[in-house]
Amino acid sequence: MADVLVLVAHPDIARSRVNRTLAAQARLLPSDAVEVRDLYALYPDYVIDVEAEQAALAHARTVVWLHPVQWYSMPALMKLWVDEVLAFRWAYGPGGRALAGKCLWLVVSAGGSETSYREAGSNRHAFESFLPAYQQTAELVGMRFLEPQVFYGAHKAEPHEVHAHAHAFAERLLALAGEARADGVAALPDVGADERRITTDD
Ligand SMILES: Cc1cc2nc3c(=O)[nH]c(=O)nc-3n(C[C@H](O)[C@H](O)[C@H](O)COP(=O)(O)O)c2cc1C
Repeated sequence: MADVLVLVAHPDIARSRVNRTLAAQARLLPSDAVEVRDLYALYPDYVIDVEAEQAALAHARTVVWLHPVQWYSMPALMKLWVDEVLAFRWAYGPGGRALAGKCLWLVVSAGGSETSYREAGSNRHAFESFLPAYQQTAELVGMRFLEPQVFYGAHKAEPHEVHAHAHAFAERLLALAGEARADGVAALPDVGADERRITTDD
């Protein structure tokens, strides 16, 4: 069980350049500091072992979602993981405090260039405009949403750019693992996930 849990969600990792390189880099780190779980490899049939996922989360202080941007959002299995693993009375709702005080770090690759994520660009909005659902998911379960790391223009990136990105990713993972050891989970603020509810009427 590690301080940092990296959840990789790529539907076609064999053809991936960016996410595959980052996942491989993360796997080189000490396994007691960083654990990597490849969701599509673990659950090719989309039958998620919710208990196993919750157990992995319980020991981590920082959870990383590593995935390509697909239709301005997350790949389907990542979404199913959110639907099933972040369960009522476990992650939110009465007694649902399992993730309170942990950090969530989103690390994504986008096919679009940075300039395409502008008002005048083909994606018409800054990439941050697509993040509120992630931010509010973290908020609702009491997690601290860290500054996301976005790798733009994934298709056109040179190999050395991908490797530099992967190296920076690994350094940050180690720093996050180090912070966890220095601070201890108890030092993080309790943001009161107990009181949170998903409701349709407010
Ligand atoms: C179904 C699908 C939807 C995609 N949607 C987007 C998108 O909304 N925005 C974007 O910038 N790139 C989009 N892409 C491009 C991927 O983000 C890109 O291929 C990926 O980040 C490359 O990373 P990889 O080398 O790990 O595969 C999409 C790709 C696929 C297959």
